This record gives sequence, C-alpha cells and structure tokens, in this order.
Amino acid sequence: LIKNGRVIDPANKIDKVTNVFIENGKIKSIGPKAPKAGKTIDAKGLIVTPGLIDMHVHLREPGKEDEETIASGTAAAINGGFTSVACMPNTDPAIDNEASAEFVYLQAKRAGKANVFPIGAVTKGRKGEELSEMGQLFRGGAVGFSDDGEPIKSAEVMRRALEYSRMFDKPIIDHCEDMDLIRDGVMSEGSVSVTLGLVGMPPVSEEIMVYRDIALAKLTDGKLHIAHISTKRAVELVRQAKKGGIKVTAEVTPHHLTLTDDYVKTSDFNTNYKVNPPLRTKSDIEALKSGLKDGTIDAIASDHAPHSEEEKDVEYNVAPFGIIGMETLLPVVLTELVHKKVITINQLVSALTVNPARILGIAKGTLSIGADADVTLIDLNKEWVIDPAKFKSKSRNCPFAGWKVKGRAISVIVNGQILV
Ligand code: DOR
Repeated sequence: LIKNGRVIDPANKIDKVTNVFIENGKIKSIGPKAPKAGKTIDAKGLIVTPGLIDMHVHLREPGKEDEETIASGTAAAINGGFTSVACMPNTDPAIDNEASAEFVYLQAKRAGKANVFPIGAVTKGRKGEELSEMGQLFRGGAVGFSDDGEPIKSAEVMRRALEYSRMFDKPIIDHCEDMDLIRDGVMSEGSVSVTLGLVGMPPVSEEIMVYRDIALAKLTDGKLHIAHISTKRAVELVRQAKKGGIKVTAEVTPHHLTLTDDYVKTSDFNTNYKVNPPLRTKSDIEALKSGLKDGTIDAIASDHAPHSEEEKDVEYNVAPFGIIGMETLLPVVLTELVHKKVITINQLVSALTVNPARILGIAKGTLSIGADADVTLIDLNKEWVIDPAKFKSKSRNCPFAGWKVKGRAISVIVNGQILV
C-alpha cells in the first residue's frame, strides 16, 4: 500500500492525494480506502507516478560490455527512476533479427531490474541497404524500428520501412541527419564552431531529414518518430505536420533542453559535451521548450550513450559522440523545467509515461486497475549534487557533474517488487 502520495497518472487524468494498492504485481485499487497490507509505504509529500519510461537508451550489449550491459544499464535506469527503457539496436552485432530481440528480453529477465523493450534495426546490419526482417523482429518483441546512431540515408528505404511497419503499428524512429551536409563535423555549425576552428554540423542537415521523413510519412500514412529533436526549425516542421494530421511524434533530451554549443568552448573541449545531434543555441533551446509546452514534442528521453573513459579521453575531434543520461534526466528536467515553471509536473509525467507508452504501443505508463504495478515515487524538493562516481552505469561520460539539482526518484517498484 502506497499511502497519501500525490498520485499523478495522466493516462487516467488523475492528480490527487490518495492511496495506491498493489496486489500480486498488479495495480489493485486507487482511492481513499487503505486495505490491510503486507507492506505500507508512507508517501506523504511525495509524487506517485506510473513507472517512468525512457524510450531511447543505448545498453551496448552485445558488443561493448565494457561500457554498459543490460544488467548495469537497467540498474542505472532504476537508480534514475525508470521502470522501463527501450534500447537501440546499434550494438555489435546489431539487433536486426528475432533471436537478438529475444536475447534482450532474456538478459533483462536475468538482471531482474527494469523492463527492457528492444528497438529493432530498420536495415540489415544497420547498413542502410536492405530492410531487416521487420516481421520477425516484431515477433521477437521489437516495439519500434530504428537505425539510430545513423540516419536512414535512402529515401526509398525509408519509404518502404514506413509502409511495412504499418502492418505492426510500430513507429520508424529516425535519427535525422543528412550525412553529406554533416561531412566530418564534430559540433553544431555556428559562431562557436568557427571561433574554435572545429568542423560544424549545420542545423539544416537535421531539418532536411525531418522534412523528408514527414513527407514520406504523409505519403505512406506510416508512423514516424523523430529521435532527439534539436533545432528550432525541426520543431516547427513537426508542429505543422501534426496540424496536418500526419502521424509524427518527437522526443527531446535533457541536454538539448539545457546545454548550448558554448559549453564546448567554456569547458575547454570537454568531450562529455560531444553528442549527436550536437548541442545547439539558446534560441533552439527556447523552441524545444515551447515544443514540449504545446505538445509538439511528446516525450523526453535520455539518449543514454555510454562510452569508456579511454575512448572519451582524447582530442575533441576524434572522441565518440554520446553522453549518459538515465541517472540525470529526472533531476535535470525537474530543476530546469518544472521548478522554473517552463512545464508543469503533469506535462513532465506525461512525457515520461503515457506518451512514450503510446508511441511504442506498450502496456506501460499507467496506474490503471489491473496494470503491471510499475510505480515511481518522486521527492520534488530533495536537493543534491550530481556525482557520476555514484552512478550505477558502467560509464561516466556525464556533462552534468557537479550540478546542484532539486528533485529525484526515491523509490521504484517494478511488477510489485520494491527495487529502490
Ligand atoms: O551521441 C550519440 N551517441 N548519438 C547517437 O545517435 C548515437 C549515440 C551512441 O550510440 O553513442
């Protein structure tokens, strides 16, 4: 029994102080009654939400187990307040067949922490040439398709993927970049890249692909999801497409909502700011925030991308792209967006529960009676300092080290089991 918490469940339009009763791993009741329970949690002063979902993470297994495994990644998820994550297929080998999707479920079950939902590769080996066996991936439990880390370069392949995935009602999640425009860029193209003498990645490279994908989603009536949206114009394109009834959704990361390209300069080329898409400008951040506010952007996801210290501790232009994020998403967004009144706590909970669940078509993200008892308890007012040394992730490539934040998940329940 979770007693007297402020229960926020946007899927059921609930926001009130009440009790949540769990039995046999399922939500049994929500309401003022307090049935006799084997265990009671006093949630007075806390927010009680459906277990949070991070719909975009990289767990590196198989292939890069020195950076992360499904076990360490799900421990990090739980530590950050997430009960479910969707993992990207840019592993080695890629998750591009039924057996590899099933392997993800098996490893997640062995780890016994957060639920893990695999995203299957759109193309065989993520080579961008030939569609993967999407039907078999779906049968293996894939909840979406993506070649993330790389865009789907060919418009023809993208068109067929959008058409084919309609059979399973699952989204094609595109990492939008025109690789010809990107060249060997290492940060966003603009005055900072020019000052630093680093090759820039022009924002238009993202916008061209977002535009192409929206046009193809319109043509095919397929479900398109834009991963880690980062520019002002890309947000505007999604806004207009949604108005036009096109099936497009989008996610944004905490780092694109809070950090600008200036950090590359002020941090003296700290490679923990090197990420793809790259950090943009203040006006992009403002546009991303208004996109979240008006519902143009549906979800917040970490794009948790672990890299080893050896790989990151090199010159900026040769370091790999990526920063970890599952253990910092919630506090950073609570501090910078909710406490600063950019979005409401209800909007934040929607972006981390019902919205990602609907996009991926998974039976999660709600406290409906009979649903799996995945619950997150959040203390909105807990003040603390981010210290990557305390993370459960195997990697430490975090740009938020030392940040003073307010709010964190303090208890996490998965299928009725209290894990934190
Ligand atoms: O910065 C990134 N890192 N962006 C991506 O799209 C891929 C990711 C990774 O896998 O390291």
